[in-house]
Amino acid sequence: MTVGVQRSGTRQVCIACGNEMVETDPHPRCTRCGGLLEIEHRPPKGPELLRRFSERRGAGPGALASGVWRFKEVVLPTATDVVSHPEGNTPLLHRPALDRWTGLSDLLLKHEGHNPTGSFKDRGMTVGVTQAKRIGATAVACASTGNTSASLAAYAAQAGIPALVLVPGGNVAMGKLAQSLAYGARTLLVRGDFDDCLRLVEQASEQLGVYLLNSINPFRVEGQKTIVLEALEQLGWEPPDWIVLPAGNLGNTAAFGKALVEARTWGLIDRLPRLAAVQAEGAAPFARSFAEGFARRHRVKADTVATAIRIGDPASYDRAVKAIRETNGVVLAASDREILEAKAAVDAAGVGCEPASAASVAGVRRLIAAGTIRPGERVVAVLTGHVLKDPGILLQYHRETDPPPAGANRPIEIEPTLAALEAVLEARFEEPGPASGG
Ligand code: F0G
Repeated sequence: MTVGVQRSGTRQVCIACGNEMVETDPHPRCTRCGGLLEIEHRPPKGPELLRRFSERRGAGPGALASGVWRFKEVVLPTATDVVSHPEGNTPLLHRPALDRWTGLSDLLLKHEGHNPTGSFKDRGMTVGVTQAKRIGATAVACASTGNTSASLAAYAAQAGIPALVLVPGGNVAMGKLAQSLAYGARTLLVRGDFDDCLRLVEQASEQLGVYLLNSINPFRVEGQKTIVLEALEQLGWEPPDWIVLPAGNLGNTAAFGKALVEARTWGLIDRLPRLAAVQAEGAAPFARSFAEGFARRHRVKADTVATAIRIGDPASYDRAVKAIRETNGVVLAASDREILEAKAAVDAAGVGCEPASAASVAGVRRLIAAGTIRPGERVVAVLTGHVLKDPGILLQYHRETDPPPAGANRPIEIEPTLAALEAVLEARFEEPGPASGG
C-alpha cells in the first residue's frame, strides 16, 4: 500500500550516549555504545496534526485508514511502500461488570486483541516490516513469547520476506504457535526461556545479518505509540488520569511513555496521564527495581501462567524507566491467581482477553485497594491480546482446576434428551453463574 511521501527530520538517537544515526541504519542498537535507540521526529504543530489525524479517521481503503498509518507524521513520515493489513482502530470498551469488579466508576478497556493477528504487536510490526522492506532486509527475525512471532510471521508473509522466529519450546500458548506455523515463519522451539531466545536472536542479527524485529528495534516502538494516540483521540484528546498496561519486555511501557511525552510537547494534550505497568509476580524484575527507586536493574528466572510476560531480563528496561519517571508512573506485580481471576471477570463480561492482558485489570483492582487510584478517576486499561490466544489455560481453568475457582464455568456432559437438558437448566438457575460476582 502506498502513502504520500513527506520530507521530515526523522532520525535515530541513542538514549544512552546521544549518538545520532540515519533513519535507514539497520543496526538494532547504537553502533557506538550498544545503547537503545529512539526515533525523533519534527512533525507539524498540534492543530495541523489534529486536523490530519481526524481527516483520515474512517478513511479507506488504503494504508491511511490503518490505526497506525493515519498517525504517520509521528510514526514514520518518510515511509512510502507500507506493509499494512490494516491494523489498529481498536475499540475502547466500557463494561459495568468490570467497574464493579475493580471498584472503579468508569473503567475503559482499550482492546488490542482486535488487531489482525489478535494482539497489539501488529501496530509495531507494520512499521518494523515496512522499515525492513525499505532497507532491503533479506530476512527478518525475532525472539518471542508468542505474539510477536505470530505478528512477524503474518507481516513478513505479506511483504514476501523470509521470517525466523525463536520461541521458548515448552511455554508458548497454542494459538500463538499455530499462527506462526500457519503464516509460514521458520519456527524454532528453543530449549530455553524467552531470555535465552532474545540473547540468541541478537547474536544472529549481529553475526548473520538478519534484521531484528524485537521491540528493541525503535521502529516497533513508533508503531506501538499509536495505542495511546488512538485512545487519546477516542477520548477527544482529554487525557485519562491513568493508563494501565501489562509489562514484560517493556517495549510497550517505553512506547506509551514516549507517546505521552511527545503528545504533550506537540500540543495534542495539556497534561500527562500516569502510567501503571503491571508485571506477573513470578516475572517482576521491573517492579522490584521500581520499589527501590530504580537504584538498580534486576534479572530473575521468570515463571508465570501469563506466558506472554514470562520474561526475567526485560530488554527495554532503560527506556521504560524513563517512561515511568516522566509520567510519574508506578510499577506493580499481580499474582497468577489475581491474573486468572481478573481474566475470568473480563471473559465473563463478554469481552475476553489472554492471561497477560488481564494483568492490567488485576493491577487496577490492586491500585484501587491500595488507594493509589481513586474510584472516581478515569482509567484506561489496555487488553493486549485476544481470548483465543491461549485456549490451553482457559480450558484448564474452567474444566480441570480442582476445587473449581469462583469464576469456573464447568462444561456439562448430557444425554441427547430434552429431560436431561431441562434438568441442567433447573440446576443452573439455582447456582450463581460465573458473571454474578461482578
Ligand atoms: N501482553 C501481551 C499479550 C504480550 O504478548 C506481551 C509481550 C505483553 C503484554 C508485554 O509487552 O513486552 O512490551 O512489555 N509479548 C512479547 C512477545 C514479549 O514476544 O510476544 P512488553
